[in-house]
Amino acid sequence: TKFTSDRLLLFGATGDLSRRMLLPSLCALDAEDLLDPQIEIIGTARSDMDDLGFRNFARESLEQFLPANRRGGMATFLNRLSYQQLDANDLSGFDALANKVGTPQEGLSIFLSTAPSLFEPTIHGLSSSGLAGERVRIGLEKPLGIDLASSKVINDAVSAAFPEDRIYRIDHYLGKETVQNLLALRFANLMFEPLWNAAHIDHVQITVSETVGLESRVAYYDDSGALRDMVQNHMLQLLALVAMEPPVSYDATNVRDEKVKVLRALRAVKTGETVTGQYRAGAIGGQAVPGYDEELGKDSDTETFVAIKAHIDNWRWQGVPFYLRTGKRLPRRTTEIIVQFRPVPHSIFTGRGAKTVANRLVIGIQPSENITLSLMAKVPGLDREGIGLRSIPLEISMADAFAGPQRRIAYERLLLDLIEGDQTLFVRRDEVEAQWEWIDAIRAGWEEQQLEPKTYTAGSWGPSAAIALAERDGVTWHE
Ligand code: BG6
Repeated sequence: TKFTSDRLLLFGATGDLSRRMLLPSLCALDAEDLLDPQIEIIGTARSDMDDLGFRNFARESLEQFLPANRRGGMATFLNRLSYQQLDANDLSGFDALANKVGTPQEGLSIFLSTAPSLFEPTIHGLSSSGLAGERVRIGLEKPLGIDLASSKVINDAVSAAFPEDRIYRIDHYLGKETVQNLLALRFANLMFEPLWNAAHIDHVQITVSETVGLESRVAYYDDSGALRDMVQNHMLQLLALVAMEPPVSYDATNVRDEKVKVLRALRAVKTGETVTGQYRAGAIGGQAVPGYDEELGKDSDTETFVAIKAHIDNWRWQGVPFYLRTGKRLPRRTTEIIVQFRPVPHSIFTGRGAKTVANRLVIGIQPSENITLSLMAKVPGLDREGIGLRSIPLEISMADAFAGPQRRIAYERLLLDLIEGDQTLFVRRDEVEAQWEWIDAIRAGWEEQQLEPKTYTAGSWGPSAAIALAERDGVTWHE
């Protein structure tokens, strides 16, 4: 059922995500008149606060995290906010919350950005206080469990109160404009799709590198590690978008049907095709940074870097490796996808300096969005030795091509879609479970072999074994 929401209920409203992303996104949407003019936003959390206190909290968040030129509607926005203190483990508080929410005219959207341990009691409280009715949808922030079994427990609890078509599982990478642009690149252009297969593609690389370390998420991150934190969700979603068949149309069912087929076709990875690492003290951009164990304050086996050679066992991708790598405290913050084409079958150019280099498509997702296609060209000149060739970049900068719209927060798209009811950019239960199944098998392999992460210096591209993982196939990571 299609309905919009004139009430939005935020759990974890005083948390970090709310401060940095959710409140700024909502204010930005409001400033562009994209929210229902009547919308009321109710925050809830354990902190003792009143409406005014929450509005002050929100104002400070906006001033810190929303650029000044996007804060036009701030006063109106702040007036929409109210607050109800709640301990999710105490069922009795939910009736007061239901009172505060009142009766929406259109519908209610609920967003849970709390510790996953609170998901179950929260759902229970919502059901028992009448907040899980027909015109209610629910958004869930990651992490959705720590493995397949725990994600099933969460999914079961949510499914007991909400049908799948009203459950919105967030993967914020899907909210990024540049990630959506991947679909435009693939399916709104004729020239890529005929080549997008094992016959013409040698391999694919997906890199998500970060310069940050633990940040303030000590307990969460040390229990999670890079594989669960980044690969299980964001990187597998990127992989699915790169590898999926053309969906029949751009809608929730068709897009997700195609993604899940890719996820199910992922081959179980051998431990020898993975590399894990943990950073030691080093320097990034000339700044000295401490090692992981120093940041953590104790020894730990948690991986802050992982590289994997993955395979997709289907017709399109047979024999094409997908090299994935992600890590904290790497030299640059960048997310990019490299599609390496095969060499031409025969070169007609025989002169000195006429070596052909295979085409490569580099899709830069962040921080800057550039699409670069390397092409062979003749080096200008009258060389007696015959034609000289060089690989030159054909480069598109999205920022230059599209003046105007500022870089948006991924949550602007996602919150709007939650409020309006479009699931295309949310992860379906079968996807999450296929992702976990593949990840669990990798972890099981690590545990069986008692694999310990190799060390790498902060500011380097991870352990040398990660370079070797690609190099033994004759592949170099793109830099
Ligand atoms: C989050 C992870 O999901 O994504 C973080 O938990 C990571 O560890 C973040 O830093 C990266 O997101 P982005 O949008 O900055 O690439």
